[in-house]
Amino acid sequence: MPKTIGILTAGGDCPGINAAIRGVGKTAIVKYGMKVIGISDGYAGLINKEYRELTESDLSGILTLGGTILGTSREKPFKGSGKKKDETRKPILIKEHYEQMGLDCLVCIGGNGTMKTANMLSEEGLNVVGVPKTIDNDIWGTDMTFGFDSAVNIATEAIDRLHSTANSHKRIMVIEIMGHNAGWLALYSGMAGGGDVILIPEIPHDEKVVMDYLRKRADNNKPYSIVVVAEGVQIPEGEDSPARYLAGRIQEETGLETRETVLGYIQRGGSPSPMDRVLASRFGAAAANLIANGEFGRMVALRNGSISSVKLSEVGGKTKLVAQDDPMVRQAMEMGTCFGV
Ligand code: F6P
Repeated sequence: MPKTIGILTAGGDCPGINAAIRGVGKTAIVKYGMKVIGISDGYAGLINKEYRELTESDLSGILTLGGTILGTSREKPFKGSGKKKDETRKPILIKEHYEQMGLDCLVCIGGNGTMKTANMLSEEGLNVVGVPKTIDNDIWGTDMTFGFDSAVNIATEAIDRLHSTANSHKRIMVIEIMGHNAGWLALYSGMAGGGDVILIPEIPHDEKVVMDYLRKRADNNKPYSIVVVAEGVQIPEGEDSPARYLAGRIQEETGLETRETVLGYIQRGGSPSPMDRVLASRFGAAAANLIANGEFGRMVALRNGSISSVKLSEVGGKTKLVAQDDPMVRQAMEMGTCFGV
């Protein structure tokens, strides 16, 4: 039975990380009597040997807190090492510090990049368990990541609020939603918020179709329209934001008064939703159970409503994208939502 475990949080933060740290830590301490080490600022903390012990009382009162009590960074220790097996300074330091800190296992809470690095460290011989988190919901191998539900709530509220101001001014409102290269967040918040147009990277759109759709709505006495666009949607080179670009194009092409909103980091901040608190806690507890069973090199996952796990080697380097024929896309299209196709 492993005695000492390290926990780190890496990549972009999201609501629910502290709930996951608490889930891993409390289960490890209360159920298994393990010692828990909190590593600062993601993989950077392992490279710089910055850490502290987390006692049970350190883990109290953090369930509802946004962000991460451990700090995070986008440090990628294998980046620039050419072949991934190359022994560069950073992976060597990580291995040395893992030994010096007396770790029997490392829990890596993070997104796609974090899981890729976790898998590489596992291949280097470290005992590693992954816990998937991201507002983007784009991690392969799990039906859902925590952070996503909170972000959907935030983005939906923003879209709801745009409806009334759009209606008052009879404007087109374009709202840009995060999600990296995936359209999950835009699709869910767009559907929940009643977006008239939803544009996601997985479904390349034709601008003319969007313009015709918006003109037709205006001709049919619909006083306003809401366009939800994912940040990953392709735009011409030199343009910095899909929302800004599209709003300009719509006003130019249709003559309809148009405004844009780039929602940004608000989607990642603040307290997790109840669903994310539950999912993060369950993922955390499942990670502690994997460690106790000696099942390393795995990422905890949600599959068909049950908590399970997948091999990190299957997850690393992949992205879970919206399928073009996703039932949600089809249903939205059948209700008249425009995807620009
Ligand atoms: O992965 C979460 C996310 O918020 C993405 O939606 C977004 O593209 C990216 O992180 C922003 O990254 P950064 O925090 O480095 O600006």
